[in-house]
This record gives sequence, C-alpha cells and structure tokens, in this order.
Amino acid sequence: MAGLQSRIEGVLDRALALPDAATARLREAMRYSVLGGGKRLRPLLVYATGSALGAPLDVLDAPAAAVEMIHVYSLIHDDLPVMDDDDLRRGRPTCHRAFDEPTALLAGDALQAHAFEMLSQPAGGSSGVEAAVPLAMIRVLATAIGTSGMAGGQAIDLESIGHALDLPAIENMHRRKTGALIRASVLLGAIAAGTHGGDRYEALARFGAEIGLAFQIQDDILDVEGSTLLLGKASGADAARDKPTYPSRVGLPEAHRLAMAAHDRALAALAPLGAAAAALEELAHFVVRRER
Ligand code: IPE
Ligand code: IPE
Ligand code: MG
Ligand code: MG
Ligand code: MG
Repeated sequence: MAGLQSRIEGVLDRALALPDAATARLREAMRYSVLGGGKRLRPLLVYATGSALGAPLDVLDAPAAAVEMIHVYSLIHDDLPVMDDDDLRRGRPTCHRAFDEPTALLAGDALQAHAFEMLSQPAGGSSGVEAAVPLAMIRVLATAIGTSGMAGGQAIDLESIGHALDLPAIENMHRRKTGALIRASVLLGAIAAGTHGGDRYEALARFGAEIGLAFQIQDDILDVEGSTLLLGKASGADAARDKPTYPSRVGLPEAHRLAMAAHDRALAALAPLGAAAAALEELAHFVVRRER
C-alpha cells in the first residue's frame, strides 16, 4: 500500500503540472490541496480492485488520479464558509484560507474537470483500448457525484443542520455524500480491468457501497473521539454545527456496531472474488479501524 501511495503521489504531481503562467495561482491552489496529504483511500481502492482483476498498474493510474481529484474538489467545497466553514484540512489551512474563496471555488471546479479529462484519455500507452471503457468510467463517476450521489448527499447534509433526522435518513445521506464516490472508486478499478457487469462487478458494487457507508460512520465517530492534531481537521465540528450524525442519533457504541456491521456486509460481498480480494479486505479493515 505504501508503494501505491507514492505511486499516486507521482501520478497526481505530473497530472497537475499545468504549465500555464496565466493561471499560476489557480494551479498552486489545486496542487496545494491535492499533493502531500490525505490517506489516498480512493486511489488505493482503484489499484486494489483493478489488480485483483488482473489489470496492470499503468491502466489504473488515470482512474486512481481522477477519483482523488474529485475527492479533493469535494473537500475544498465542503470546507468553504457557505458549507462547513472549516479552517483546517489535512493538517494545514483549508484552501480558501491559504488562498481565497473565489480561488478555492475555482480550484474545486477545475479539479472536477481535470478528473473527467483524465478518464476520457486512453489508458497508459496501451494500444487498442476501446472507447467503451473510458465512457463507462465517466458514466459511473458522473452518476456517483451528481444529485443521486455526492452533490445530493451534500445538499441533504446542509438542509439537515439542526434537524433530528431518523437513522434511515442519515444512512441515505451518508451513502450519497461519501459512499457513492467510494463505491465508484471500486467500480472504476473493475471497469479499467475490463470487468463491467456480471457477478463479480455486482459483488464489488456491494462491497464499495458498504465500505463507503462504514467510512462515513467512522468519520462521524472520529469527529467525536478523535483529536484535531491526529485528524488534521477540527474535531467536534459536527456537534458545533448541530449536524445529524450516527453518534448524535444512536450514541457511540451503537455507531461503532453499525460501522462494523457495514464492514461485515462488505466482506461478505467479496466472496465471489476469493483470494484475489485480500487487498480489498485489508482496506475494509482499515476503514473501520483507522484513527484518522
Ligand atoms: C474526508 O475524507 C471526507 C469524507 C468523505 C468523510 P478522507 O478521510 O478520506 O480525507 P483524506 O483524503 O484522508 O484527507
Ligand atoms: C464530507 O463529509 C463529505 C464530502 C466531502 C463529500 P464531512 O463534512 O463530514 O467531511 P469532513 O469531516 O469535513 O472531512
Ligand atoms: Mg460536510
Ligand atoms: Mg466537512
Ligand atoms: Mg466529518
């Protein structure tokens, strides 16, 4: 995993070289937010899934970079004063603090555009890549971040401040705002490996959706149990903003139990992949055991 983390660092660095003097400030804001921080879970899921299905790493670089760019775009916008209004991200000032709000808005926009541009290109120098693969990846990613996925989940999140949502409503919000992109990360790895549809694809979709839910439950838990220093972002921010979360709705012990239940459903879904899924199992464990 450490090798893949440094691999994605290099891929992102090269993809964001953007040698255009006229937009240097925008480029610096994008590079500031993307490079040198973050757990890189979503790229790791692309690599682990694609490798499990036999894809070479160079075919997985573009989708791995694309999901991280989308993720960072979502973080930059999530931190803006009109959304969560946070000052700290990945142990540093948030993009709008280090630069300014208009630049942060545009850095997010441009990262989203770059992600789709990367997906639209034929993979890693290999010849004969059919257009069907980039098109399928673009469709999966777009669906994951639109109204039925991330943007919709973020809209529910913002409309829910101060409201006591019931648990199914919080679960729906979490599956959309965070789960959908994590699920898409797994599916992009599968599609890049030439698996689009069929039993293994459906199994991976279930796996991704369940670790995606577990991931956001754990994020809610860490907002209560974690420290600002270790998280690299302000802890206690959800309670301070009166956000409906798993711990606020059901308490910490039950939140832990529900995260673990989602983790267990994720592992069960992997059965059709057999031993090839070892790295994915490891990532599922990480999702619920992580402390940052
Ligand atoms: C934080 O995601 C935002 C959520 C979707 C919960 P991560 O915890 O993956 O953030 P980084 O990439 O490691 O900074
Ligand atoms: C993040 O949820 C969801 C997205 C960024 C899409 P949070 O608002 O809980 O994420 P953090 O805690 O700020 O990282
Ligand atoms: Mg938020
Ligand atoms: Mg936030
Ligand atoms: Mg959070």
